[in-house]
Formats: sequence, structure tokens, C-alpha cells
Amino acid sequence: MAARIRVLIVAASLLRFTEASSQLPKPDNVTVVSFNMGAVLTWDIPEYSTSNLTYTAQMRVLDEFQTVCNHTGDRHCDMGPVPSCLGVFLLRVRAEAGTMKSCWVKVLHKPSEDTVIGAPTLQVEFKAEEVEVVMADPVLRVLRPLTDCYSKVSYVLRYWRKDRPDHVLEKKGVADKRVRLRLNDPGNSYCIQARVDPYGREGLFSEPVCDQSGRRASSVSQYVSRQVGRVVKCVLPSTPGA
Ligand SMILES: *[C@@H]1O[C@H](CO)[C@@H](O)[C@H](O)[C@H]1NC(C)=O
Ligand SMILES: *[C@@H]1O[C@H](CO)[C@@H](O)[C@H](O)[C@H]1NC(C)=O
Ligand SMILES: *[C@@H]1O[C@H](CO)[C@@H](O)[C@H](O)[C@H]1NC(C)=O
Repeated sequence: MAARIRVLIVAASLLRFTEASSQLPKPDNVTVVSFNMGAVLTWDIPEYSTSNLTYTAQMRVLDEFQTVCNHTGDRHCDMGPVPSCLGVFLLRVRAEAGTMKSCWVKVLHKPSEDTVIGAPTLQVEFKAEEVEVVMADPVLRVLRPLTDCYSKVSYVLRYWRKDRPDHVLEKKGVADKRVRLRLNDPGNSYCIQARVDPYGREGLFSEPVCDQSGRRASSVSQYVSRQVGRVVKCVLPSTPGA
């Protein structure tokens, strides 16, 4: 009895061995790179693969796998916008060579948590003693406003005197897209950047926008403070041009 069971087990493992050997090794390091709710599946060529491989990548939508890249020679597949920014999606990829296939490598993708939120675009107007900033949310590939994907969205603004990049002021938890910031040293050039924080997440900061013109007397004030140097800064709380 025991011998018969052992024979069966050997036969079963032989079967599995032959089945496995007719398969290709599967793609390695399968990951999802997601920016603004897009999803790009990437992978590495399987180890020990000899033949020229192609790959098929699929996404499950409503319980059905849809082929997005069919026998591609690339090592990435742009899965396009995810069907929704809410929910979890199953992506999978396999390698092929002729009639041989590898098994699928599956990856779960949760866009709302996994995606990198890009920077807002800024419209900045420097005025005499303040700066007015109007922010626009990054455009998502799902073509929905950010507030459809996250229950709450706030902004973080950073600004600094252009000549003092180590003294950065930060304003957090800003709810409005239009913000006015008072400048402590009017007459100096300032730089400003912003990021959007969807609930529980952090977006990327925009490139700094700087006041290039240095309006009103600012060039004079900078010239004076450079000439007189430290002494002036110690004596006066604000720069001479202010
Ligand atoms: C998978 O990624 C690791 C770490 O980056 C790397 O060392 C390895 O070579 C990769 N595998 C393949 C098959 O390229
Ligand atoms: C792989 O493709 C290259 C060029 O496309 C070809 O020169 C080479 O013979 C192919 N190798 C195999 C094993 O099919
Ligand atoms: C994938 O390509 C094969 C031919 O290479 C074709 O027969 C099949 O219908 C294609 N599948 C899809 C989903 O486009």
C-alpha cells in the first residue's frame, strides 16, 4: 500500500517536472510604475532564457482579462489609464516563444495608494508686498478631478527670498487654490513652489517660480546691502530699500 502511494507520488512529481520543463521561465522583477493614475507594467527578461522572447500583458477589468500588449518585444507595457482611481486592479504578464509560454506573473495595483501625484501648475503674480498664487491640480490619466479620487485635497506652499534659499517658509494645509502670501521683505526677489497633498498622500513639488524682475527699488536695495554688508543687516530689521 505504502509502496503504491510512493509510486503515485513519484509519478505525480515527474508529471509536474515535465510540465514545468515545457514552460518558459517567467518575467522577473515585475513592477507597476504609476504616475498620475497611469500604470506602466515593467519587467526584466527571465533569468536563463535563451530564445528571443515576447511578452503579453493583461489587466483584469470586470472579472475579465483584457490584453493590453500582445506579444510585445519590449520590457514594459503602458496599461493606459486605470479604469478607476478607486479600487484594486490585477495586472499580469507572461513570456512567450513560439508555442511555449511561461506562467503569468501577477501584480496587484491600487492606484489611489501606489500612484505618484505630480506637481500642480502655478500661476504666480508678484505684487508690491505680497504674492498671489493660483494652483491647478495635476491632470490625471483617468481624466477625473483629483477630488474624485481623494476625499480631501490640500496644498503646501514653500517660499523664500531668492538670495536666502536656506530660509524657506512653509504654509501647510492650504484648502484654497488661490492663495495670497505676505512678503516680509518687499523689494526683494522671491521664489515659490507648491505641492498638492491628496488625503494621506504627498505629491511632488513644482519647480520653483522666481520673481525675475525684482521690481521696484529691489536692484538698488540689493546693491546697497551688498555694499554695506553685514552692518546694515544687523542694524535694520528689513533691507534699506524696503
Ligand atoms: C531583478 O532585479 C535585481 C535587483 O535590481 C537584479 O539584481 C536582477 O538582476 C534582476 N533580474 C533580472 C533577471 O534582470
Ligand atoms: C533573436 O533575434 C535576433 C534578431 O532579431 C536574431 O538575430 C537571432 O537569431 C534570434 N535568436 C533566436 C535564438 O531566435
Ligand atoms: C494577439 O496576437 C495574435 C497573433 O500574434 C492574435 O491571434 C490574437 O488575436 C491577438 N490577441 C489580441 C487580444 O489582440
